Amino acid sequence: MRRSMNRIGILTAGGDTPALNATLFGAVEQANRNEVEVFGLIKGFDGLLNPAVPHVLLNPLFQTIPELDPCLGGSIIGSSRTYIDPNKPEELRAVTERLKRLGIEGLICIGGDGTISGMQPVSEFFPCTLAPKTIDNDLGLNYLSEPNEWARRGFNESGEPEYARTAGRDEIDLQEIVNYATPGYATAVFVVAQAVERIRTTAESHRRIAIIEVMGRESGYIALGSGYGQPDLVLIPEVPLNIDRVEQKIREIYDMQKHAVVVIGEGVVDESGHPLGAVDSHSKDPAGNILFNGAAEALESILIKRLGDAYFQKNRRHESAKSAIFTRKVGHTQRGGRPIQFDRFYASQLGGKAFDLLLAEQNDSIATLQWSDAKGFFLDSLPANKLKDQWGVIHPRLVHRSFYDEFKFQPSKLGIEYLRSIFTHAIGQDDTEVIRAKLFNPGNLITPYQSVNVDVHKRIRYLDKVAK
Ligand code: F6P
Repeated sequence: MRRSMNRIGILTAGGDTPALNATLFGAVEQANRNEVEVFGLIKGFDGLLNPAVPHVLLNPLFQTIPELDPCLGGSIIGSSRTYIDPNKPEELRAVTERLKRLGIEGLICIGGDGTISGMQPVSEFFPCTLAPKTIDNDLGLNYLSEPNEWARRGFNESGEPEYARTAGRDEIDLQEIVNYATPGYATAVFVVAQAVERIRTTAESHRRIAIIEVMGRESGYIALGSGYGQPDLVLIPEVPLNIDRVEQKIREIYDMQKHAVVVIGEGVVDESGHPLGAVDSHSKDPAGNILFNGAAEALESILIKRLGDAYFQKNRRHESAKSAIFTRKVGHTQRGGRPIQFDRFYASQLGGKAFDLLLAEQNDSIATLQWSDAKGFFLDSLPANKLKDQWGVIHPRLVHRSFYDEFKFQPSKLGIEYLRSIFTHAIGQDDTEVIRAKLFNPGNLITPYQSVNVDVHKRIRYLDKVAK
């Protein structure tokens, strides 16, 4: 490959995932092979808005620094949900000027939809590519023409446009999926499936109904993957809650097995499309995503009312509906810790691909992970605009209806096929060995946690010192 750049920048933006360091690692190793220096920009776009632009040389003498360990969760260069406002040209100018002063000739952004929106305005002045990440698995398309199937349904009270998904196609072929799985998703499902198994046995022993809330915003991929933990019902945001059917199913299961386990995606909506757990319709994060908090509790109070105390008292199973039903959020454990093999491997590959795209002058493009019957997983790329609808909005990829059986409240046949392709060999031997060898290492009780931030801090440089 022609060596068209000598130094590039890389940043991690948005919510962290367990696979960010693996992606950084893959990009830096590929840069080493091409003798390109990589500056890691601290805390995502926030670092670029800081005139001092704190940064770290990730490969002195084209050797990856030891702190950059692909098995370590999170990002050694930090992440933030700060984005560059495309409507502030002076901010954009300042950012590109700073990148140039650092001698950086191209930028790799590791992120999701919010990061693409942050990267695109910069890409008009400066070469950029994206390596995908998100535990939500919502960056991608079920098929290429999907963005054309969004419609504007009006404006909310704040005057912001609102969009709705039109019916779209009934069937899809797994091979058409654009960006089959995003780094971080597999580890999140690994955590959730174990959480379901663990909560199960306490619900079973105490004759309780457990409602387990999982992340994913409007997308139900994490909830779908929770099927590996064998919950009795999986509720995904893509299918509005039919509370009569949910209640009936829970009664059937509870009557038979004296307990029930329900997984609910945090973005599940009621029949009028209102998210059960939205903090309120105005609370959004910096990337414009609705903040969710409380889908499980909302379902819990509905079930307490509908099932009532007498239902639990009749067989002496519980004193009240309130004591029988409980909720748990798997929470940020889904986003943290060591990535499993699938994530580590493909995250690094995607990092390397984003590097190749940058050197091949594929500005504003995204490295993607594809799947086919014949080849299994392979790398490809896509212009970022292909993910946008006609108004320039990137919508989260939703679980396609053919992946979910809304009568059984479980993944459908195709949904199972999709999950199997990702998860059957997702855990490596070292993933289990590391638990055996490290968790109860007596040294953990003696040595305080050694944060990578301390070591990386020693390597941080600032723009003005470099420019001198
Ligand atoms: O997008 C990733 C995600 O983990 C979502 O699944 C979740 O709703 C959100 O981020 C949580 O964000 P925060 O860490 O800012 O609470």
